[in-house]
Amino acid sequence: MQHKVVILGTGGTIAGVASEGASDLQYRAGMLGVDTLVAAVPALQGQPLESEQLAQLDSKDMTHAVWQQLGRRVHHHLVRPEVGGVVVTHGTDTMEETAWLLQRVLAPAKPVVITGAMRPASSRQADGPRNLADAVVLAQEPGAHGVLVVMGGVVHGAADVRKVHAHRIDAFSSGEVGPLGRLDDEGRFQRARAWPASDGLGIAVLDGDVGAWPTVEIVTSHAGASGALIEALARNGTRGLVIAATGNGSVHQAIELALERAAWADMAVMRATRCGDGAILEVEGASAAWPSAGALTPAKARVELMLRLLQASSA
Ligand code: SIN
Repeated sequence: MQHKVVILGTGGTIAGVASEGASDLQYRAGMLGVDTLVAAVPALQGQPLESEQLAQLDSKDMTHAVWQQLGRRVHHHLVRPEVGGVVVTHGTDTMEETAWLLQRVLAPAKPVVITGAMRPASSRQADGPRNLADAVVLAQEPGAHGVLVVMGGVVHGAADVRKVHAHRIDAFSSGEVGPLGRLDDEGRFQRARAWPASDGLGIAVLDGDVGAWPTVEIVTSHAGASGALIEALARNGTRGLVIAATGNGSVHQAIELALERAAWADMAVMRATRCGDGAILEVEGASAAWPSAGALTPAKARVELMLRLLQASSA
């Protein structure tokens, strides 16, 4: 018996519509309902699917409230024995952040597959229908688990995936570690690497009023940095700070000084490299005073630090 797949819609370009004559770059994201997206894919007709509209937004506007709701709904469906996997349709702009949030919270034993599109549903070359069909194949793949992202026939793990191009159709990469696998034009999956394993913090970490979730900000270390933002954030009660550090996790001395001066604020600090690829390798030096986020992008490191603070506050 084929297990059921639940598709949760959150908006994005995959549900986007352009006005007549507009280019593929000019459209409104999050216009079509998830049922309409499913109905547009011939390969999905007659499949054991359920769909649910969870949000309808441009993912640049993703909120913690939507993340909380999404985490809970994904968890709710995953524990149903008849459900084999969950698909989330999502805008591409913050897809990697949502992927890491769901992976760290749920570390699901069943596949949770996030997909989207670089071209709106109204485009003559819309990529959403194929991506959605691929996501359902993956959600039914025996042995698949964890949070996965599929775009353009390429399957990425939540830890590795990042958006690396502003508008090209092959906008996603797993960097130097490479993708987990690919789907061919017939929708057959070929695995390239082992499914990643990790521990989940548990859905309870997302409990509580999202308004009270710790604020975690990102500050970029760059030439001519002043550290002024650090001081402002410390005074503002910011609980966590990710430094988008240069190269192998190095931090401008003005920011280091500002962090030392702001020690009274007890902000948790984490360094993530602002390079598009490669994990920070630990070396001695002033910057090593703050833990590194390894290979996580600054945006994913922000999610990681926020979750760690949430976990610490609920302990
Ligand atoms: C969005 O992230 O919602 C808009 C952009 C996209 O999906 O490609």
